[in-house]
Amino acid sequence: MAVVPQMQHSIESSISNIDVYEGDTETIIKHGENISVCAKFHIEIYGCQMNVYDAQRIAELLQFCGFEKAKCHEDADILIFYTCNIREKAAARLFSNINIFKNQKTKVVAVGGCVVQAEKENMFRHKAINIVFGPQVYHKLPEYIMDVINGKRDRIMDVGMPQMEKFKAIPVKQNVSYSEFVTIQEGCNNFCTYCIVPYTRGPECSRPAIDILHETKHLVENGAQEITLLGQNVNSYHGEAAYLGIGGKKTWDITRLLYEVAKILGIRRLRYVTSHPKDFNKELMTAHREIDVLVPFVHIPLQSGSNKILRLMNRGHTVEEYLDKLAMFRDIAPNIQFSSDFIVGFPQETDEDLQATIDAARMADYSFSYAFKYSPRKKTPASRMQDQIPEEEKEVRLAKLYAVLQESQLKYNQSIVGTIQETLFEKEGRRENQYVGKNVYLQSIVVEADESPIGKFMNVKITKATQNSVFGEIIQ
Ligand code: 5AD
Ligand code: SF4
Repeated sequence: MAVVPQMQHSIESSISNIDVYEGDTETIIKHGENISVCAKFHIEIYGCQMNVYDAQRIAELLQFCGFEKAKCHEDADILIFYTCNIREKAAARLFSNINIFKNQKTKVVAVGGCVVQAEKENMFRHKAINIVFGPQVYHKLPEYIMDVINGKRDRIMDVGMPQMEKFKAIPVKQNVSYSEFVTIQEGCNNFCTYCIVPYTRGPECSRPAIDILHETKHLVENGAQEITLLGQNVNSYHGEAAYLGIGGKKTWDITRLLYEVAKILGIRRLRYVTSHPKDFNKELMTAHREIDVLVPFVHIPLQSGSNKILRLMNRGHTVEEYLDKLAMFRDIAPNIQFSSDFIVGFPQETDEDLQATIDAARMADYSFSYAFKYSPRKKTPASRMQDQIPEEEKEVRLAKLYAVLQESQLKYNQSIVGTIQETLFEKEGRRENQYVGKNVYLQSIVVEADESPIGKFMNVKITKATQNSVFGEIIQ
């Protein structure tokens, strides 16, 4: 067991003591070299699927380098917090969680992810934090942890943005699950006026197609049956082509990538998330009809049903254009279903604007949707707009929209009663012998079974529907 010196931080230890790396691309970790410890780590994850993916990669890398996964946070020498700040007061919540999780055993506290990229050295306001690392440099974490453990440095910050470097620096995944994510692009150039992502994840950047094909093949060969291609804006994927083929295009778009990934033998379900409505074209819609394993389900966030608000949000389309796209999609791929995100209480939103959102949500007829209260983010143009809506009013509007979204969800759930749904089982349910899985539309389906179906596809006859779940019986 390595000797891990107890770090004594004081509130006075000033920010000038921090080793700052702003884009040092030279220091790539040489895996396994000089690292032979069995310190235990625990990762707390906040936020989106991209963060789950990043955190899984960090865990794999640390294990590869000789660190051990702690059974629980109480047992960890190294606490890692992987953060999100798309909404709410993320830094405050993080600081209070560090206080809750930290104990006598904790030797290193590392904080990564989007909050860090936005707050940078301000993170060291919390005296327990040793390492602050941005989402583009998590591959350097083992090296930084070792520096802290060996007492070389006690405060390290790296918020460099060497996009894509981390993908090359991390070994292939060992613990493969039946459902896996593969990041295909990161960052965003859309600059919706409410959104922090372009500032925290950087400009849009696509992984070369060959890397995506290799990673997916490895996952599928090792047991993954469902693959979700991930990105902040997957529809604008334009990665280096794996091979030129007819037409000799040097880059592939999302549609081409989907056709090629779908050829990997053994994939049962292929998904992608998340998309911007302006980037849906006819070819991509047709892919949903032609590719068997590509699910007939797409998350296409509308955000608001008012053209005035869409303009203020810089979304680049009108509500009419959006609804036309959904109609065209339904024409091309008749079994398609959609989900959406909405933001209520955006600056200058009136009751009429909210009503327009409610009307649009009804017309779009989603199988489910998410709705959020607008949350001003530092640096974003919307946070500086006039006529910010009071918090209590946002609550009222959220409840109004939510009621309508729930109606749609119940309608969809009821519509599948009596049908047979292919379900991939994921976890145990609340009751004994109960198991929960998802159909192609990401709807939760609950069954009772004597033998666990987790990790398997089963045909389920749907018998009952409620607001949030549907229930059925396995028929195979
Ligand atoms: N406030 C509220 N919701 C937001 N989202 C993104 N930024 C904000 C914000 N500042 C929502 C959008 C997006 C989803 C991932 O999070 O609806 O689609
Ligand atoms: Fe944010 Fe999505 Fe808009 Fe990009 S497209 S700025 S990630 S909301």
